[in-house]
Amino acid sequence: MKVISDIQQMQAWSKEIHRRRKTIGFVPTMGYLHEGHLSLMRRARKENDELVISIFVNPTQFGPGEDFKRYPRNFSRDKELSKSCGVDVIFYPRARDMYPQGYKTCVDVEDLSNVLCGASRPGHFRGVSTVVLKLFNIVQPDAAYFGRKDAQQAIVVEKMVKDLNLALRIKTLPTIREKEGLALSSRNTYLNKQQRENAVILYKSLQTAVGMIQSGHKDPRKIIAQMRKMIKSRRGARIDYIRIVDIRSLTEVKRIKGRLLIAVAVFFGKTRLIDNAIIRA
Ligand code: PAF
Repeated sequence: MKVISDIQQMQAWSKEIHRRRKTIGFVPTMGYLHEGHLSLMRRARKENDELVISIFVNPTQFGPGEDFKRYPRNFSRDKELSKSCGVDVIFYPRARDMYPQGYKTCVDVEDLSNVLCGASRPGHFRGVSTVVLKLFNIVQPDAAYFGRKDAQQAIVVEKMVKDLNLALRIKTLPTIREKEGLALSSRNTYLNKQQRENAVILYKSLQTAVGMIQSGHKDPRKIIAQMRKMIKSRRGARIDYIRIVDIRSLTEVKRIKGRLLIAVAVFFGKTRLIDNAIIRA
C-alpha cells in the first residue's frame, strides 16, 4: 500500500492505471476511519481493480467555531485499517497544496446545498462539493463510494456529477450502526457515555416515523411532532432540525407521498449528530 501526498504524483499514478485499462474505486474520507468507511472500502475493493482512499480533513467545509481543529485524527491507525481492507493507495494531501495561496474557485450546487444541514451550516456543502470535485480530478476514479448517513452530501455530489458531466459513478451505501442503532460517525468520539446512550433516540425516532408512514399516516407535521417529543425526552438533546423532504429536491412535503428522506440533526452538548431514513410512501 502506497501513501501519496503529492497531487501530480497521484494524478500520474491514476493515469498509468487507466493506461493499463484498469478501474479505480475511490472512497473519500476525512480519516479517523470506522466500520462505516470500512464497509465502503470493502465494496469498492470488490468492484474495482484498484482501490484509492483519501484522508483529508477539509478546512473549507467547516464553519467558524466548528470542530475543524479538534476533529479526530489518527493517521497510523487509519493506515493499518486501510491495509486490512486492501487499499492500494492512500491519497493524503496537504492543505497548502489543495488550497494554495490565491485559491479562488468553488463549486456550488444550488438549492440542494442550502437546506437541511446546509441551512444550519452555511457554506458547508460548497466546501464539500469543491473538495470532492478536486479529489475526483486528482484521483480520476471510475466509481466513488459514499455513506447514506450523509444522505444530503451524497445527493449534492450526485447532482454535481450529473450537472458537470463527470465520467464516474457514485455509489451510496447503507448506514452502518452500533448494535443499539447509533449511526457510526467519527464525531461519536466526542460523546460521553450518557450522551452516547441518549443519542440512540435519533434512530428510534426515525424508526417511529417510518412505522407511522407504513401504517398510513399522511401528515408530516404529526410525524415530526412525535419525533420531536421522543428526542426532547432525552436529557441534553437540542434539536437542530427534523424534516421530511422529497428525496430529489430536498424540499419539505406537505403530505406523505413518493420517495422521502426523513432527516434529523440533534446536538448533544457541543456535538451535532445527524441521521436519516429513506422511505417510499
Ligand atoms: O464525508 C466526508 O468525510 C467528507 O465530507 C468528504 C466527502 C471526505 C469531503 O471532505
